Amino acid sequence: MKYNFNEKIDRSKNHSAKWEEMEMKFGRKDLTPMWVADMDIKAAPEIVEAMKEKVEQEIFGYVYRPTSYYESAAKWIEKRFGYTISPNSLIHSPGVVPSMSILVKMLTKPNDKILIQTPVYPPFASSVKDNGRTLVENKLIKDEKGYYTVDFKDLEEKLSSGEISLFILCSPHNPVGRVWTKDELKKMGDLCVKYNVRIVADEIWRDLIMPGHKHTPLGSVSKEIEDITITLFSPTKTFNLAGLQASFATFPREEERKAFDTILGQMDVKRNNPFSLVAFQAAYEKCEDWLSELIEHINGNFDYVMDFIEKRLPNVKVYKPEGTYLMWLDFNNVGIPQDKIQDFLINEARVAMNDGGSFGENGKGFGRLNVACPRYMVEEAMEKIEKAIKNL
Ligand SMILES: Cc1ncc(COP(=O)(O)O)c(C=O)c1O
Repeated sequence: MKYNFNEKIDRSKNHSAKWEEMEMKFGRKDLTPMWVADMDIKAAPEIVEAMKEKVEQEIFGYVYRPTSYYESAAKWIEKRFGYTISPNSLIHSPGVVPSMSILVKMLTKPNDKILIQTPVYPPFASSVKDNGRTLVENKLIKDEKGYYTVDFKDLEEKLSSGEISLFILCSPHNPVGRVWTKDELKKMGDLCVKYNVRIVADEIWRDLIMPGHKHTPLGSVSKEIEDITITLFSPTKTFNLAGLQASFATFPREEERKAFDTILGQMDVKRNNPFSLVAFQAAYEKCEDWLSELIEHINGNFDYVMDFIEKRLPNVKVYKPEGTYLMWLDFNNVGIPQDKIQDFLINEARVAMNDGGSFGENGKGFGRLNVACPRYMVEEAMEKIEKAIKNL
């Protein structure tokens, strides 16, 4: 390994939300932070170098985006997924969640029904509800091993009602860790084509795919699906750059790309900041090797937790994720009432995980464990959970 992902990290002066906001969110600060999706891992040296060069210029005015910026993203997509898109179909936005919220307003009317697949990353529901639209859930099906699949019967029933204006897809899926197969994506996409429902595909996790699995960009599945799909993505999860607050969207329809651009213009958030500009390009052009090693590291952390749970926590259920760096731990059988589980994890285990209930009703009793960190943190979290459960 060229890179050391097990290096002890110190974020005490890093203004880290994950560490510093723990007390505000969980009521105490003596917790192992395994929640919000950023990594306790340093960014790739090539990215740091590009940012240092920017710092050394000592001027941080408004930046101009060279054409090579979008080209680097399009080339990355071509190389990683064999999917050719025009750099001109891309647009910058301050984030995937802001894009989602803008698109909800742009593509639908107040009270329109929007479909999501729960349990899912909480801003999916809030971007629907907070914008005065109506949430419709296509609940994912979980088998006894904790493996999730799409309920296609329910999906078709809902899409065919003629009442759904938009489907927001999470691919790969946070928190259940599925990397949807091409077949599953085609089935979902074809239903939307058939029933004339537009799709916003949040593919922010598309580059964090574990060995043996393959991400298929939804737009690459067929021309018909591509034409109804707006895809959101970013290198921020992949390369731990979330604080730089930038992302991309791909628009198949030029008039919609322009309308989106106009909205960003009205808010004056059309530009990158000087750091996201150079960092993203460096990530796409120079950091593929770093990513390969990172995936190996995360996969190793997944295996560690799987093994730990199998041997030492048989009442906790988990399915090894196919992608992301998040594990979806089911605590419903450990002998604690469901509404006390998060409190138990915080105050007894002293581990900060995202509360499963915030991902939807069907996430209650689960905790989302972020393993994008050095192994010692994963070990610490798991041992603390084990000790607390043994003390029950
Ligand atoms: C599925 C998904 N979409 C979007 C985001 C956040 O994107 P951004 O920071 O670009 O708004 C996250 C963060 O964890 C996520 O998991």
